[in-house]
Order: sequence, then C-alpha cells, then structure tokens
Amino acid sequence: MLRLFVASLTLSVAIGLPVHDYVVHEERPATARQVLKRRAGLNPDAVLPIKIGLVQSGLDQAYDWVMDVSHPESSAYASYLTVAEVNDLFKPEPESIDAVREWLSQVADIDQKDILWSKNGWLAANIPVHAAEKAFRTSYFEHADREGRIRVGCDSYSLPSHIQSHVDYITPGVKSSPPLRKRSVSRNKPVWGPSWGPGGPGRRPPQWAPPNHGPWQMPPGAHGLPPDLQDCGRNITPTCIRALYDIPKAHLKDSVNALGLFEDGDFYAQSDLNAFFTQYAPNVPNGTHPIPAFIDGAKAPVAASDPTNTGESDIDMDMSYSLIYPQDVVLYQVDDSFYSADYNLTGFFNTFLDALDGSYCTYNYDGLAGDTPGVDPTYPDPNPGGYKGQLQCGVYAPTRVISVSYGEAEADVSARYQYRQCNEIMKLVLQGHTILLASGDYGVASFPGDDNPNGCLSGDGQNATIYNPDFVSSCPYILSVGATQLYSNQTVNDPESVMQDNLGPGAELFASHGGFSNRYKAPAYQKSALDTYFSKHDPGLPYYIAGPNGTNIGANGGVYNRAGRGIPDVSANGANFRAYTNGTDYHWYGTSLAAPLWASVLTLINEERTAVGKGPVGFVNPVLYENPWTLKDITNGSNPNCGSSGFAAVSGWDPATGLGTPNYPKLLQLFMSLP
Ligand SMILES: *[C@@H]1O[C@H](CO)[C@@H](O)[C@H](O)[C@H]1NC(C)=O
Ligand SMILES: *[C@@H]1O[C@H](CO)[C@@H](O)[C@H](O)[C@H]1NC(C)=O
Ligand SMILES: *[C@@H]1O[C@H](CO)[C@@H](O)[C@H](O)[C@H]1NC(C)=O
Ligand SMILES: *[C@@H]1O[C@H](CO)[C@@H](O)[C@H](O)[C@H]1NC(C)=O
Ligand SMILES: *[C@@H]1O[C@H](CO)[C@@H](O)[C@H](O)[C@H]1NC(C)=O
Ligand SMILES: *[C@@H]1O[C@H](CO)[C@@H](O)[C@H](O)[C@H]1NC(C)=O
Ligand SMILES: *[C@@H]1O[C@H](CO)[C@@H](O)[C@H](O)[C@H]1NC(C)=O
Repeated sequence: MLRLFVASLTLSVAIGLPVHDYVVHEERPATARQVLKRRAGLNPDAVLPIKIGLVQSGLDQAYDWVMDVSHPESSAYASYLTVAEVNDLFKPEPESIDAVREWLSQVADIDQKDILWSKNGWLAANIPVHAAEKAFRTSYFEHADREGRIRVGCDSYSLPSHIQSHVDYITPGVKSSPPLRKRSVSRNKPVWGPSWGPGGPGRRPPQWAPPNHGPWQMPPGAHGLPPDLQDCGRNITPTCIRALYDIPKAHLKDSVNALGLFEDGDFYAQSDLNAFFTQYAPNVPNGTHPIPAFIDGAKAPVAASDPTNTGESDIDMDMSYSLIYPQDVVLYQVDDSFYSADYNLTGFFNTFLDALDGSYCTYNYDGLAGDTPGVDPTYPDPNPGGYKGQLQCGVYAPTRVISVSYGEAEADVSARYQYRQCNEIMKLVLQGHTILLASGDYGVASFPGDDNPNGCLSGDGQNATIYNPDFVSSCPYILSVGATQLYSNQTVNDPESVMQDNLGPGAELFASHGGFSNRYKAPAYQKSALDTYFSKHDPGLPYYIAGPNGTNIGANGGVYNRAGRGIPDVSANGANFRAYTNGTDYHWYGTSLAAPLWASVLTLINEERTAVGKGPVGFVNPVLYENPWTLKDITNGSNPNCGSSGFAAVSGWDPATGLGTPNYPKLLQLFMSLP
C-alpha cells in the first residue's frame, strides 16, 4: 500500500506540478546576509554534497515517556531505555524517508540507491548544482564569511508542499556549507560579539575568599555537641554536612556508580586534594584522584600554583570524595587548552554532550545541527595549542549521576540552541541518568557582566531590572540545585537559610539563584508546587507571561515569567566550606558546592539500590515533587538582585531553595521502596 501511495505521488511530480505548489522553506535572516559576502555563482556542473535533515518524530511525546520511567506512580518506573531504544523513538518516520528519497531521485534525476540514509536523521546525496537549483527552486552562491573563508549557500529555497512537512532543512542552503579549503583568501582577524565579564559565559565565576568574621562565641546550642560539630556555623566540613543531612559514612563501592563531574577551563591540583583529605576527610587516602574522561584535548591535573587551578574542580572533588569514597569519581574535563584559556564563546556544554552521545554530534533540531562555529568550540582546532584531532563523538559512557557547577543565562544563546541541548538531556534521563546543575550564585540575576553589569536583563523602559534565569538549569529534565547556609551562631541542629552573603566588591549580592525560565513552561511535575507557591506566597512582584521562545520578556513592567519552569528544584549547603586551593585553606561559597553534594547523596542511594538489584534513581524530580516530606524545607532568607527584593524562602517550594535540602534517611527510605 505504501509503495503504491508513493508511486502515485511520484507520478504527479513527473507530470509537473504547478509552480505555486512550491513553498519557501527557509530564508536567511537579513542579519546573516550582512555577515556573509555574496561572491560568484557556482559552475552548474559542480557537484554539491547535499544533506537533507528530516523531521524527527517523538519530541511531542518525550515528556510522557520520561514520566513513564520517572514518575513514582508509573508501572514502568525505573524501566529505563537503552541507547538503541532511545534512537528508535526519535528517528524520522519511514514514510518521510521514502517520500523524500522518491521525490529527490525524480526531480534531480539520480538513482535512489545514491541517496544515502544516515541514522542521525539525514539523507545525503551528491547532486550537480543545476539539478539542486531546480529541485529547491534556488540559486547557489559562494559567500565569504567573517574570516574570509568560502562557503556555499543560498538566501532562500523552496520545496513542494507535500515534501515540506517531512523536511527539517537542507544544507548547503540558508545554513552554508563548511568552509571550502580549495583557495587561499585574505584573512582579517574577526572580532566576535560583545565582551563578557570575568570567565565569560558558560562559566560559574570562581567562589570567593573568606569574609571577615567578627569575634565568635560558641553558639548556645553547640555546647552539647562533639567538638567537630561545634563550629559548623562558620566552618563547614564533611563532618558537618553528614550531620546536617544524616548522611552515613560511605562504605560501598561498585563498578556502576562512579560519580561524574563536568569541568571546563578550571583544573584540579592533586596536592590541594591531598591537603583537603588530610585535614577534613581522613577517610580518603592521599593520591586519590578521578578516573580521567578527557574530551577534545583536555588535560588535568595542573600544579597547585597554576592560575587555571581556581578552585572549582578542587571543591567539586573534595565534596564528592569526602562523601562517597571508596566510590570512584569520573572527571569529564572538556575542551583543549586554547578554549580553556580564552573562552569568548557564548555556547557551552555541546562538546561534552558530543562526547557522551555520538549521535548528538550531528543531531539536527530546527535547522541546527552539530556545533556552531563562533558559538561553540569546534574541533579540530587550528588555533595555537589547539586540539588537532577530530571532534570526539560518543567516546565516553555517561555515568549514572553527573554534576555540573557551570551555567550561563538563558538569554546568552538562542532558544533552539537550548532546546537542542535540552532534548539531549531528555534522552539521557530516559536512559536513567541524573544530570544536576548548580543553579547560579547572584540571586535572581546571572553573574555580573552577563547581559548587563549587574547580570540582569533590560526591557522596554526597564534598565537591568528584569530577572535573568539560568541555563542549563532551566531545562526541565535537569535537577537544579540551589544553595543554603547556616549563620555563625547556629549549629547543624538549626534550620538553614538561603545562601545569601556579601562577599565584597562584585559579589555584594551573592545568593542562591532562582526564578522562572523565560523559555520553558512549568512542567506538569511542578504544577502543584508552583500553584501552591503563587496562591499562598505570591511574591508580590510585577510579572509577565512569556510568549513562545522567550518573547514578551518584561511586558507590563514585569520582572519574571509567571508561567515559566521554576528553579531551583532542591538545595543544599553552599557556604563556609573549607578547602585548599594553591595550598591555602579558604572558605568557599556557591551553588557549585550544593550540586556535587546532592550528586553524592544520589550516588549513595544508587549504591544501596544496586546492592539489592535495583536500577538507578534516574530523573528524580517527579519523585521529589510528589514526596516533599523527604526534604528539609527552608523558610528563611531571600535572593535579591536586579534592584528588587528577589524571592523569599517560604514553606513549600520556592524560587530560592526549591523543595529544600536532603533528609538522607527519608530519601533512602523512599527510593528503596520504589521498584
Ligand atoms: C598527604 O598530603 C598532605 C598534603 O600534601 C600532607 O600534608 C600529608 O602529610 C600527606 N599525608 C600522608 C599520609 O602522606
Ligand atoms: C600560588 O602560591 C604561591 C606561593 O604562595 C604564589 O607564589 C603563587 O603566585 C600562587 N599562584 C597563584 C596562581 O595564585
Ligand atoms: C577573547 O577576548 C579577549 C578580550 O576581549 C581578546 O583579547 C581575545 O583576542 C579574544 N579571543 C578570541 C579568540 O577572539
Ligand atoms: C520557537 O522556537 C522553535 C525552535 O527554534 C521553532 O521551531 C518555533 O517555530 C518557534 N516558535 C515561534 C512562535 O517563534
Ligand atoms: C542603566 O543603569 C545603569 C546602571 O545603573 C546606568 O549606568 C545607565 O546609565 C542606565 N541607562 C539608562 C538608559 O538609563
Ligand atoms: C542568631 O542571631 C540572629 C540574629 O542576631 C537571631 O535572630 C537568631 O535567633 C540567633 N540564632 C540562634 C540559634 O541563637
Ligand atoms: C534569616 O535570614 C536572615 C538573612 O536574610 C538572617 O539575617 C537571619 O539570621 C536568619 N535567621 C535565622 C533564624 O536563621
């Protein structure tokens, strides 16, 4: 039946469809036309490597599939999918492949067997320019890009309406070919985009050295406590953290629950880890180091005195090892020394996802496939010291739990760039992985210098007063982790507050980041928590309802999107953590600490589940939102910035501390009771 149906379509093409049946499929925006300088047309007989990305199925149902394996009431809870099953769910319909292949062979007069099918969603064929121009009703030109490299493309192209629904996009097309190497061209060094604050987007800025604590008296409540718990209000150690959350000393180690840490542009120093272990985690022997999973030319460790040892990697490893040793840590160190040293790009995370899933390297979403030059690091890297090997695709298995203490503002990259990444995270959670992101550190803002000096957004009539939600945290398949703290007169038996400190110039408003995404609607698993928040604890701030893809930001004088995905989901201590960097014992602050803390808690629970033959906890958000009794609710403090009060911690979920901090025994009880 299918064959017959396709054959009749072919016939109608063969006898010639009226011109008006063609519709414009893609047009190059005017801004892009200014960047690319049009040069000569192409020799009609030159052969173009044409790739046709087909519309993929499944994305509409993805959320339901994630709930099938992650919702505590689902009969398929923890029945995770294999890589092959996930690929199958999202590949184009066979009808699309057949229809486009038939049409192309007719219109371009080539044999069907010369049109190759790639499992990543592509049809590929070598077609003469004249045939491609006829097929796509366009004219191809050479264009010079900003670096003077020659790329082939067109300003717009069209497709027959019955083919258009199957096709995502065609290259070369509005998106040009990769640079052609055939001729030498003059090179003018380009100047990309805006300038950024310290570290650039994609980086959590480093945490800060000790604030000046005044004279201290032992808190009244500390007198009955053992000496190593008497000063947790000023000095947080692994002993304090275990006491705060009732986390037992780790003892299990297995081959499947190594904890993954993402690091980029910062490197650990073994002697700093050793100093931490010796001083604060004597259960971890000197020399303990992560299993390397180095991506695209990355290398670690560095000498303690190296300027690239800024502390981020050290504290992530200190936190993780101290809570999970003898369990292993896997270090996903990403990007070569060139990009590590001088990261002026707005994209981040893509080269990491490439390394975990080879199909992501060419995964095509809404016309965006692969890494974007000028936005992402691209490999091989011709820059001095750059990694000259091929981009690493699918070279490392993702660990069950991966903690990431990096992020940037949603506003820093396009909506489709983020949807493409978030789709990949959705595919990982379908396979039972948990991806944790530190929510950010500047209250309702992004870090200083991101979008505005104060890290906030501007709008019509609003000068840097609109809240600036974080990405990757805002992807609804992430466990977004905010931070909490104890005050100096408190003990581990007191309730914590929002992490909120004045850490000196540039970091006066250092506080747990939270708010509402402008690009992702609130997912169903959050709905009841958000409804309760708005009905019982309306923050009383002006708001707007964001349109598709983050339009409408700042409408009505609003400062947040009332309909957005709320962040963070949970929180944990992120203040006064003692750790060594370059041989000095500092106090560290930030959600950077809270993410590996939660990752460690989930790793310990995964180990217990493994020991009784159960699978990993995977995407925990639906379970946690259904069972807030497993968390310690935080109800004091707030996260102001952008010239206003931010959000206060209240009972129940709130956009400063989420559902709260871990109550380990209750979390363990809950997750052990699930299949
Ligand atoms: C471990 O390393 C630290 C830091 O270098 C050092 O102070 C300590 O003496 C070492 N401990 C052992 C048992 O070697
Ligand atoms: C590391 O410490 C040494 C000794 O105090 C100092 O000379 C060096 O400048 C420090 N390195 C960095 C990057 O701060
Ligand atoms: C990155 O930015 C810095 C400071 O603006 C500049 O000196 C450097 O050349 C830039 N690097 C690249 C690769 O554009
Ligand atoms: C929103 O973005 C998606 C992905 O880039 C795109 O497919 C869709 O057309 C956009 N919607 C609107 C209303 O712009
Ligand atoms: C916006 O605010 C900044 C910092 O408060 C100030 O320097 C700048 O002049 C303001 N811009 C406008 C257009 O009001
Ligand atoms: C700590 O000090 C604050 C402010 O001075 C006070 O509100 C709070 O009750 C004190 N907490 C304890 C446990 O004494
Ligand atoms: C509540 O948080 C405020 C800061 O917002 C802090 O000054 C105060 O000490 C906290 N109170 C308690 C009881 O933790």
